[in-house]
Amino acid sequence: MKKLYLYVVGLILIMVQFVNAQVIYSPNKVTTLTFKVTDKGEMFYSLKYKNKNVIKESKLGLELLDKFPLTTEFLVENFDTITVNETWTPVWGEVKQIRNHYKELMVNLIQPMIKHRRMKIRFRLYDDGLGFRYEFPAQTEVTYFTITEEKTEFALTGNHKTFWLPGDYEANEYEYNVSKLSEVNALKALGVNEIFAKTVIGKNYVQTPLMMKTAEGLYINIHEAAQVNYPAMNLKVDTLNFVLTSTLVPDAYGNKAYIQTPAVSPWRTVIVSDKATDILASKIILNLNEPCKFEDVSWIKPIKYVGIWWEMHVRTALWSYSGLYNIKLDQVDWNNVIPHGLHGATTERTKRYIDFAAEHGFDAVLVEGWNVGWEDWFGNWKEEVFDFVTPYPDFDVAEIQRYAKSKGVKMIMHHETSASVTNYERRIDTAFRFMKQYGYDAVKTGYVGRIIPRGEYHDGQWMSNHYVRVVDKAAKYKIMVNAHEPTRPTGLCRTYPNWLACEAARGNEYNAWSHGNLPEHETILPFTRLMGGPMDYTPGIFEIKLDHWIHGKTEQVNTTLTKQLALYVTLYSPLQMAADYPEAYENYLDAFQFIKDVAVDWDDTKILEAEPGDYVTIARKAKGTENWFIGGITDENARESNISLSFLKPKVKYVATIYKDAADAHYKNNPKAYQIINETVDSNSKLKVKLAEGGGYAISLKPLKK
Ligand code: NOJ
Ligand code: CA
Repeated sequence: MKKLYLYVVGLILIMVQFVNAQVIYSPNKVTTLTFKVTDKGEMFYSLKYKNKNVIKESKLGLELLDKFPLTTEFLVENFDTITVNETWTPVWGEVKQIRNHYKELMVNLIQPMIKHRRMKIRFRLYDDGLGFRYEFPAQTEVTYFTITEEKTEFALTGNHKTFWLPGDYEANEYEYNVSKLSEVNALKALGVNEIFAKTVIGKNYVQTPLMMKTAEGLYINIHEAAQVNYPAMNLKVDTLNFVLTSTLVPDAYGNKAYIQTPAVSPWRTVIVSDKATDILASKIILNLNEPCKFEDVSWIKPIKYVGIWWEMHVRTALWSYSGLYNIKLDQVDWNNVIPHGLHGATTERTKRYIDFAAEHGFDAVLVEGWNVGWEDWFGNWKEEVFDFVTPYPDFDVAEIQRYAKSKGVKMIMHHETSASVTNYERRIDTAFRFMKQYGYDAVKTGYVGRIIPRGEYHDGQWMSNHYVRVVDKAAKYKIMVNAHEPTRPTGLCRTYPNWLACEAARGNEYNAWSHGNLPEHETILPFTRLMGGPMDYTPGIFEIKLDHWIHGKTEQVNTTLTKQLALYVTLYSPLQMAADYPEAYENYLDAFQFIKDVAVDWDDTKILEAEPGDYVTIARKAKGTENWFIGGITDENARESNISLSFLKPKVKYVATIYKDAADAHYKNNPKAYQIINETVDSNSKLKVKLAEGGGYAISLKPLKK
């Protein structure tokens, strides 16, 4: 019997020796994946695009706490391959339908020396890139384990041009750096003092989504999909050999992830093309996420909104109500507190915004600073700051509900948690019930500051679970979520479509109180942060120089006025704010018309022109209509955009309203100079539009009524 057993094992081992490598091709043979296990039992993969190396032989594996690592001594038990070609319909999105067409290679691995411990690696190869993840099947030998590091490598072919953010366990509101890989030095992030909670990893670390361009003109994007019950991945750059190695965000003990089988890691993604426009059109990250979790999605609706927000960032108003400090929530009698008189979130001001929203067709109004606690919210690493249910005395929540309803406008609640996440989780059901009681069905959450539970980071496993817990719970109350300061998105909005948007990058707000965002910032965002999902960037600032509001204020938005219009198209989100004061728009109602008209949900998208760091031009067809909207933006250089309207329905005439920079516009010295032109066009038309330095243009196209 024993002999027979040895014979069988021997035979299996011989068979295994023969099949320790596998090559697969994407559906149209554009990309090639090679996987192999070496004699030492180490796992490697490589990726080619049109026969050119993108990722050279790169190691795979994970290190565990007090257990033999998942990096070596593996044998391939078998390979499974399938081809999938399906189409699905997102609840909202850039296109009506998404095609998911890939070749899958499942590698079933075993560590015979480690009590036959098993692991799988699942690869999905698309014509525009690759996704792969580790899978930990249920097995008696390994039920619970702790990951101390993930050792996934991405061995690049050279010293690529790279658009990078400093590697950090929690902050992603940095400016982008553009340099060669060999020049990455993230330590300068230590000197950035406008970000309130940041934990820089070290000199050679960068975040994902990481965008690169090779000397041969290949565009490569590395990120992840479906970050669930797992920390975010940063990448360590070997600045001599150009190998990137994953490093996960730790918890207070320095551990990375606590796993119970069966479990899977997030997908690691490499998107590649010789055209920059293809990177922006890629659907790999959404495709790798799980389908929508909810049966009824009728309550989920894209939103265009205004709100009491920019005035606090500019500082003509304050979030707080009084000059109190050192408050304890339950010890203040708010009705007897003397107000400082600069409180933004008053009933009267809210009604002003509701009127404005109703008049101009906006769906909703956000109000920040409505609830008690703002006197004491900032920087104290304190647990009990907000209770999310007590309005300040001058914010009449019932009257606002009545008034908003009478005008057909929805209200968006604000929950700044001050990163006291334990406090928020304790109070969240009460807070959501309060929202429903007063007719709110969308919430903007925020996590400014250092996380409580202390020792956790914004991007660690614990917080990654928190963000998902919040959207999942919100769904039970039919509440939509816009999260500020979360971990950067990884396409989870497919699974939880009530997660309309996130911030998770440097938004327009930085222009109000720092040196701002460079004009190239918005040309990089689509290639980086937006690869993971929609952003609440809060565009639409018309009073570009802020001394308009406060005499002597030197800050400005580094943009022209019509570039702000273009951002509604180039920065995709089903949740878009018109962020300026109502008073700002009332002076430029002709240009404001574009923001009123532009859609927030689309049947189709065409990426017309794009180069990271330089320019982006996108056309989108509004859901359920024949109307198209185009946005084109540039960096600090003036430019001419040349586009063909061949995507329009043939033989139909359209009225094109073109909002563009005036000939003498410039983001620094003449940002508000614009021109609006009407033209009749059709699918044979070609347009040339001049963009000023730091400028942009927007076009709305509507079929001509006969
Ligand atoms: C930072 C958010 O990004 C911003 O939108 C918000 O106004 C402040 N925190 C206050 O919560
Ligand atoms: Ca922020």
